[in-house]
Amino acid sequence: MENIKEPTSRLPGFHRLTLEARRAQLMAAAGASGLEWADLAAAGLGAEAADHMIENVVGTFALPLGVALNFLINGRDVLVPMAIEEPSVVAGASFMAKLARAGGGFRATSSGPEMIGQIQVLDLPDVQKSRQELLDHRNELLAEADSVDPVLKGLGGGARNLEVRVIEASPIGAFLVVHLLYDVRDAMGANAVNTACERLAPRIEAITGGRVHLRILSNLADHRLATSRCTIPVKELAFGDFPGEKVRDGIIEAWAFAVADRYRAATHNKGIMNGVDAVVIATGNDWRAIEAGAHAFAARSGRYTSLSTWGKDASGNLVGSLEMPMAVGIVGGATKVHPMAKASLRLMGVQTAAELAQIIVSVGLAQNMAALRALSTEGIQRGHMSLHARQVAIAAGATGDLIDEVAARMVNENVVRIDRAEMILHELGK
Ligand code: MEV
Repeated sequence: MENIKEPTSRLPGFHRLTLEARRAQLMAAAGASGLEWADLAAAGLGAEAADHMIENVVGTFALPLGVALNFLINGRDVLVPMAIEEPSVVAGASFMAKLARAGGGFRATSSGPEMIGQIQVLDLPDVQKSRQELLDHRNELLAEADSVDPVLKGLGGGARNLEVRVIEASPIGAFLVVHLLYDVRDAMGANAVNTACERLAPRIEAITGGRVHLRILSNLADHRLATSRCTIPVKELAFGDFPGEKVRDGIIEAWAFAVADRYRAATHNKGIMNGVDAVVIATGNDWRAIEAGAHAFAARSGRYTSLSTWGKDASGNLVGSLEMPMAVGIVGGATKVHPMAKASLRLMGVQTAAELAQIIVSVGLAQNMAALRALSTEGIQRGHMSLHARQVAIAAGATGDLIDEVAARMVNENVVRIDRAEMILHELGK
């Protein structure tokens, strides 16, 4: 990391710069090497590299890559890359990170990087007896799984535990599921875990006399959790005609809706995933795995509910937290193949998968706060409209400072249309 200096994530006026100026400022802020930012500017993945990643490649598909500002996570400034097509997400995260900064930023933690591999064992006349037999051989099975990946083992990873669950009721009757808990260190871990599960299968059949069917990782990675918390001083929440207390209480009331109602919880959690997925994608990680884990975790009590929690502390400040599975890696897969994924990891200066997980969950929490604040005050459309208005202003021919001026007037008038933008430009003599 010789090229990385301690960056600041506070870049006031960044959104007003041209694309080229933003890249230059980012380079200066992060001190990243010219080579990586050349990768970035070249729009990342070439068709040649893509051809080695999946089958039947005919090209690549690009998304906008933005940078969320103001994030202070565990005392460190982080510039957060976000790949997403939806307007307002990057701005929302950046703004909430600014408010959270006033309360010390985000404090994030993560559990050990343990993934679960599942091995389904069928055709057992006595599931309880077979379960005990497997538990009696736990150490031997763990030793075998542990020897599968010497590189991972050398890095301190490997098999950690073996659990045997009885599935009593299923369409095919009772069967067993062996859970292999595997420390995958800085990898996402699917390959290591799937290989270990496949390796254990013959031994499990020999011990039980049963038949092993599926051998695959579980995306409900509830032994690999990341948590983030923030405190927003209540005065920071005030804006326009809204006192801070009203905004705070509005956010808590909105959260209560998601806690109690699964229709709302789905949308509430989608807002969290707007932030989470954007960073997961920017770092070349598997966002379907993260989505699957998030929603299964949100339903872990048997009832689908909010992933986040909002309340107030003794001083009346808004306090939020988010805990969710976060199976992301910084080695292997697209994280090492995709040039933009590599640049994203460098930009954030992350050294471990745990650190990346902590950043992602903090962005999810900021994004959730952005949505709840907008929804419980002026509504979501106003924020969307300001970005939309900029696009309309540009389409009408505005350039430079005029873009913001025309856009702001249209938003104030609540008329965001190209004919109005043209008229404003005309009135301004342009
Ligand atoms: C839109 O992409 C996300 C929101 O619907 C999230 C929410 O309702 O909390 C605004």
